[in-house]
Amino acid sequence: NNYAVIMAGGIGSRFWPMSRTAYPKQFLDILNTGHTLLQSTFNRFAKIIPVENIFIVTANDYTDIVNQQLPQLPVSNIIGEPERKNTAPCIALIALKIKKLNPQANLIVSPSDHLIENETVFIHHCLTALAESAAGDKLITFGIQPSHANTGYGYIQYEANQPNTSAYKVKRFTEKPDKKTAIQFLQNGSYLWNSGIFFWKADTIINAFRMYMPNMFDVFVCGQLDLNTEKEAAAIEHIYQHCPSISIDYGILEKAENVYVMPVAFGWNDLGTWNSAWENAEKDHSLNAIKGHNTMAIDSRGCIVHSTDKKLVLVGGVSDLIIVNTPDALLICNKDNEQQIKEYLTIVKETK
Ligand code: GDD
Ligand code: MG
Repeated sequence: NNYAVIMAGGIGSRFWPMSRTAYPKQFLDILNTGHTLLQSTFNRFAKIIPVENIFIVTANDYTDIVNQQLPQLPVSNIIGEPERKNTAPCIALIALKIKKLNPQANLIVSPSDHLIENETVFIHHCLTALAESAAGDKLITFGIQPSHANTGYGYIQYEANQPNTSAYKVKRFTEKPDKKTAIQFLQNGSYLWNSGIFFWKADTIINAFRMYMPNMFDVFVCGQLDLNTEKEAAAIEHIYQHCPSISIDYGILEKAENVYVMPVAFGWNDLGTWNSAWENAEKDHSLNAIKGHNTMAIDSRGCIVHSTDKKLVLVGGVSDLIIVNTPDALLICNKDNEQQIKEYLTIVKETK
């Protein structure tokens, strides 16, 4: 009854200009492993889930890329969305679709763009979590020990004093807190980061939509009849027109009573921003991470300098900057402002 759902419809805007709307970072080999992030994610799950039970949900614009990158996956397991509505609609859709195929379905729902260092430990935890979610009505997430006050993550406070369990009841889930709150959470010491890798039965998450997002639930329930038929694409198109854009974290995890966290340590990084890539990158003795053909940093410290262009890129006398040069776009940004790159791009689009 186990299924894996990989969400691959984001545009990775905080990773601009490497991640582009036409070709977002999940389709790139960011880590130089010979596989794109999507392929690595798929390969990990294929070790424990039969390929016919792995589904990719992505934007209609990317279904061809997914098909090219994963030729072993049946085309009918690639679900295209007509509009980008964040992760809640994506999860409601796939849960209803899979539940129609198998009412007992038990799901892993995962992002497509994370680094997992120790695959053996990761798989072991996935199997434990799948057993937990199959056995009860739990919304389970992997929790990561936080290392700094990152404002791009969900923060989870949990009841640690629960013997004989691997999934702990969550007291409070706070999605993307402001800097001050993130610092408090970190100092408090009893918070974990939400990894965004979830485990639940299709039925359990559908019930959560019914309780916590009743309006979206109604839109889906009215439109679900045609899922898994030749009318599916038209049904999804219709449903999405009436869906708000919201993430599962704000929509359900902050509100639900039955959220559980499984603390894990397998070497995790949401390769979401330039700083997270910097943490993983090789650095010179001045802590600059330099990548590019003809790229140099002199008298500089703590910079990310990344160029995919042939021209000479020279950085001098600066510190803690993100400098990314591609053939048609150049970004120069303070490292502290990396979460704002998303907003900058909205401004650029609005003024063009
Ligand atoms: N299909 C589909 N449709 N996928 C989407 C969409 C969409 O509209 N929007 C985002 N995704 C995919 C992204 O490609 C990514 O793989 C995943 O869903 C998560 O979206 P992000 O946009 O990367 O979320 P985030 O990083 O801001 O926050 C989430 O992940 C953090 C950990 O990495 C939250 O779950 C946080 O609580 C969590 O800490
Ligand atoms: Mg992310």
